[in-house]
Amino acid sequence: MVAPMVTTFFLLFLATRARGQTTDDVSWAKRVDTGSQVVTTMQFYFHDTLSGNNPSAIKVAGPQSSASSPGGFFGQLMMIDDPLTEGPDKKSKLIGHARGLYGQAAQNELGLIMILNYGFTDGMYKDSSFSLLSLNPAMQSVREMTIVGGTGLFRLARGYALAQTYWLDASTGDAIVGAKNKGSLIQILKMKIEGMILMLCTIFIVLPLAQSILEGPKEVKEWFKELPIKKEKVTKLHFYFHDTTTGPGQTAHQIAESNISSTTITQFGRTFMFDNPLTIKPDIRSKRIGKGQGFFGAASFEEPRFLMNLNFVFTQGRYNGSTLQFLGTNPILHRVREMSIVGGTGVFRLARGIATAQTYFLNDTSSIVEYNLVVIHYH
Ligand SMILES: *[C@@H]1O[C@H](CO)[C@@H](O)[C@H](O)[C@H]1NC(C)=O
Ligand SMILES: *[C@@H]1O[C@H](CO)[C@@H](O)[C@H](O)[C@H]1NC(C)=O
Ligand SMILES: *[C@@H]1O[C@H](CO)[C@@H](O)[C@H](O)[C@H]1NC(C)=O
Repeated sequence: MVAPMVTTFFLLFLATRARGQTTDDVSWAKRVDTGSQVVTTMQFYFHDTLSGNNPSAIKVAGPQSSASSPGGFFGQLMMIDDPLTEGPDKKSKLIGHARGLYGQAAQNELGLIMILNYGFTDGMYKDSSFSLLSLNPAMQSVREMTIVGGTGLFRLARGYALAQTYWLDASTGDAIVGAKNKGSLIQILKMKIEGMILMLCTIFIVLPLAQSILEGPKEVKEWFKELPIKKEKVTKLHFYFHDTTTGPGQTAHQIAESNISSTTITQFGRTFMFDNPLTIKPDIRSKRIGKGQGFFGAASFEEPRFLMNLNFVFTQGRYNGSTLQFLGTNPILHRVREMSIVGGTGVFRLARGIATAQTYFLNDTSSIVEYNLVVIHYH
């Protein structure tokens, strides 16, 4: 039996820079426009509930044998749809949700690899989101994690989050075992977010002229040496993504689900690994320009909304062998969905950008989604 843990609650707002202009309409975020960029500092509470009648974090996969690690927790993967609130009280104002996966990735301590999208519903941040991709050593008093991209007001965002456990209740064994067995583990994390958002004043569309890019450690080093004199370029990409979940030509396979996936309309926790063709026209027989490889998983209790973590791997022309990394949530019934491009390789080294998805065709077994990407990169 571990006593409930309460850590002191510090206020962690950074002092607002005096010269900047602020345009805040919510109490939990401060936005300072410095002219060349916008720095947003946010503070809110994240409620992760594993037990009870309404858990917000549900196991979707785990190791075959619990003997593989102390406590059998290693490898356990949870899908979450966790409320974010203004205050520590769960009944305080709801400002958004953190959706996605976290999994235990450390053998001897609590170390969670987190693949999450934080979507907001309050004030000017409504419909904006950011993506976090980081390890969370959850027993440390302060954890710093990486924010890799965003949408809406957080387009092209980079930043970091500091998480502190506000309250933790592990009523059976230690916290790790408590999460696996029937004991309750409820965590409220306090987060301070400092996002760096570059403002885009003009968009130039410049197509890279170079031939296929040279790879290898030496070539990459050379490439970085020239980076200070390289210009930012903006490339637009347009293609169709074909997803087939059953039958002939299946490209997406279910790999995990939760014990409520089959009984909830949003199929919460159901996760697919896919290798989907990308074509230049909606017709699957049109020219293939690459593949979308990765996974998507149902990450919302409210609507069909999927965490998407994938690579676009291009196979044609000057983009042959280059990739773009994509992370966000996709509410598939919305007409237009915005998600973030958080990195790339080859001609897309250091890329950041935005992808918009629109459904061209959808039935029970397959979909064709039109993607428009706008990417900033340097090659
Ligand atoms: C799902 O699993 C959790 C934990 O293993 C359990 O507490 C819960 O009762 C299960 N829910 C259903 C609907 O079976
Ligand atoms: C793409 O690159 C691969 C590996 O270098 C090569 O085998 C292939 O022919 C190239 N494809 C096109 C269309 O250029
Ligand atoms: C969905 O559409 C695809 C492509 O037109 C078709 O092959 C498939 O049979 C359809 N599935 C259902 C359940 O209608």
